[in-house]
Amino acid sequence: MTKMAKMTANPFYARGPVEPKFFADRDEILDFFRMNINEAGGSKSTKPDNIAVLGNWGIGKTSTLQKFRDILHNEMKDSINAFSVLFSLKPSICEDADVFTSCLLDAISKQYSTSIPLKRRVGEVIKEEAKIWEQWKINSISMSPELRRKTKEHSLLDALGRLWGKLENSGIDLAVIMMDDIHYLITDGWKGSLYDLRTDIQTLSADGARYLFVITGPIFIYPEMHELAEPFTRLFEKFELVNFDLSGTKEAITKPLEVSGVPLKISDDVVEQIHKMTEGHPFFIASIMRDILRIYKEGDLTPEKFEGIRGELISHLARSKFQDDYDIATDAEKLILLRCAKLGKEVFSPSDIEGKSQPKLFERLGKKELLIKISRGKYRLYHPLFAEYLRSMEGE
Ligand SMILES: Nc1ncnc2c1ncn2[C@@H]1O[C@H](COP(=O)(O)OP(=O)(O)OP(=O)(O)O)[C@@H](O)[C@H]1O
Ligand SMILES: [Mg+2]
Repeated sequence: MTKMAKMTANPFYARGPVEPKFFADRDEILDFFRMNINEAGGSKSTKPDNIAVLGNWGIGKTSTLQKFRDILHNEMKDSINAFSVLFSLKPSICEDADVFTSCLLDAISKQYSTSIPLKRRVGEVIKEEAKIWEQWKINSISMSPELRRKTKEHSLLDALGRLWGKLENSGIDLAVIMMDDIHYLITDGWKGSLYDLRTDIQTLSADGARYLFVITGPIFIYPEMHELAEPFTRLFEKFELVNFDLSGTKEAITKPLEVSGVPLKISDDVVEQIHKMTEGHPFFIASIMRDILRIYKEGDLTPEKFEGIRGELISHLARSKFQDDYDIATDAEKLILLRCAKLGKEVFSPSDIEGKSQPKLFERLGKKELLIKISRGKYRLYHPLFAEYLRSMEGE
């Protein structure tokens, strides 16, 4: 045990959201969030702007939500009394409106205590409401589906409307509801789910309930949402998370080291190399840094030392990420991926690959986020390291 305690901590972690204290970059969206909260906290007549955080896999959507919570409950705790909930969507909870509502309410009743520092009265209020929600759930389970459809009582709108009234009476200025991975409503949601949610959000706002909704999802959902429920997209201020620029990469590398006091210095040349290798993608930076810290825990990481471990870093990434990515492709799709990598071009189109049904396969690989659609008929592999991995398989 004592040996464990003496070991240098490794602050990098790529398999989940980053801790708010290590969160790097993203000033634009964080500043907007702060301003939004400040304005809404400053005047009861200012309605908060809802926010949509869009970005592809591993770019930092969930991390951003965690950072928002940290801003609300730590950084700005003296200027606003906020309540927040982080609700992660999954296909199974999107299939039915009742299930969706009761899971969201469940999340609220479970997370109220982490919305610190909430006054005890708020806790009491939520416990009280949770009892009612629980009763709804029991009633609705015992009802036939037909009767359930007719029963208006169990609705998100009613529950959130009532909840707001009580929160307001307990001195809460604003309630922030974050829905992570909203695309499951589009791919697996009940019919009309987006319309229903839109109507509820609009009605709550019109009724004076001070909710700020934050949703996240991959970039491709926005045009689809726009088509499905056009006014839905108008309800949100949209932000797209993209790869870090060089200074963002530098912060993502150095901040965790500094904050947790790891005596390892990464030279600017190495930062630049990591930036080139990862293209500033947060997931790749975190996973490469985690590996580096397993090898070097102190001193200077020079370009020479880095060069010596580069191969090892890439082959670990290949084992932990690219293999899984490759495996989600069907056999026909795998063939396309291999051929695309072999082209050796950054940007290519279905016509570069021989065969008939290529556009469809390209489309499907785009949905799986293995190919990125740049414009009509133009694609690239989702990351150059993935291309490198695919090419290395050819040789085997
Ligand atoms: N702003 C940031 N600062 C530092 N590291 C970050 C940041 N954003 C993301 N990361 C790193 O990238 C990884 C992926 O982040 P996160 O899980 O938040 O992405 P996501 O967009 O929610 O991914 P998914 O599409 O899988 O849900 C995290 O493990 C974290 O290490
Ligand atoms: Mg996420």
